[in-house]
Amino acid sequence: MLRYGWVDETTTAFTQMARSNSSDRRVASLCCEVRRLDERREEDDGLSDTWRHELEAIREQAMASLALASDSKALNDWRVEVLGKKSALGQMSKAMGGLTPEDRRVLGEALNRIRQELEQAWRSRQAEIEAKEKALRLERERIDVTLPGRHVPLGAMHPISRVIEEIEDIFVSLGFSVVEGPEVETDHYNFELLNIPKDHPARDMQDTFYLTDEWLLRTHTSPMQVRTMERMRGRTPIRVIVPGRVYRRDEDDATHSHQFTQIEGLVVDEGIRMSDLKGTLEAFAKALFGPSQRVRLRPSYFPFTEPSCEVDLVCVSCGGSGCRMCKGTGWIEILGAGMVHPRVLDMSGYDSARYTGFAFGLGAERIAMLRYGISDIRMLYQNDLRFLRQFRHA
Ligand code: PHE
Repeated sequence: MLRYGWVDETTTAFTQMARSNSSDRRVASLCCEVRRLDERREEDDGLSDTWRHELEAIREQAMASLALASDSKALNDWRVEVLGKKSALGQMSKAMGGLTPEDRRVLGEALNRIRQELEQAWRSRQAEIEAKEKALRLERERIDVTLPGRHVPLGAMHPISRVIEEIEDIFVSLGFSVVEGPEVETDHYNFELLNIPKDHPARDMQDTFYLTDEWLLRTHTSPMQVRTMERMRGRTPIRVIVPGRVYRRDEDDATHSHQFTQIEGLVVDEGIRMSDLKGTLEAFAKALFGPSQRVRLRPSYFPFTEPSCEVDLVCVSCGGSGCRMCKGTGWIEILGAGMVHPRVLDMSGYDSARYTGFAFGLGAERIAMLRYGISDIRMLYQNDLRFLRQFRHA
């Protein structure tokens, strides 16, 4: 810090030099003296040697320990230790109250200087450490975006599930509800209430797996006709479809399986006629296979419908001209149907003098095979991924 006293002295020295007729040596020595005076001026802050040494020791130790602080925690600890209230510097500031005003001023200035110097050192060390820690963090959290992504194997809906959903959508849009029933069924519901008494020849076509004399694996979804009517307790209208698995004692081949999937349909109300059945099935066929589809009803027999029919579609493979698939007939059978037998209505709590209804049952596998050109029903059950993957985008 520049003090006027020293300036005066310097000036005086120069003035003297100017006034005298001195030699160059004298000038040189005066210049040296001025420089020495300058140096003294820099150093002489009025501190006693004791204080100077004390402060210098504090400064040196603080700088040394700062150089050792290697993370932000150590850095914070250092700040508290060196610049905090309880630090040596802090204690000294506190103790200054007892000094003479001149000493207080001198020591205060010195303390401020050293404090500023240490704070500055702390800031640059902090910047260094922050940069180092950030670099470390970036390195640790590095994500290599050029790595190929982890492959999530994409599944596909099974063709049978797909067909069921599609058919459900069609019938729901026609006002039907979807219900489901038990696969383990009683002889009573599976046969008796469907007008198939014991020893009826129709039982031969639907031999099944018996759990006991009374309990069996259902051979068709038709017992749900009865269960639905019982649940509805005479209320109308009834419009349901029932998808579900059924079982038969069949040899498995390209078109038969001991376990397959049916979708039952049932409508009961006053004034339901065979034309309602045909119209409904025609709408269904067009929705599923396109607007040019038509259905054909052929007389048939089921014990629980009267009259009964088999329903054919125009062959989806040749369009009706006749091919190997339709065995040259141009038609493909897709379901069995008929008007609900009066005896079944009566047994289920619907007065057959007042109510009529129609029912149908179709095989989901058969529809899926026609739909996707599958030639062997067994492919639907083998879970061969090469087969199933084809339905990802179907
Ligand atoms: N349940 C019959 C079968 O499995 C199909 C069918 C259902 C027929 C409803 C008429 C009415 O063969």
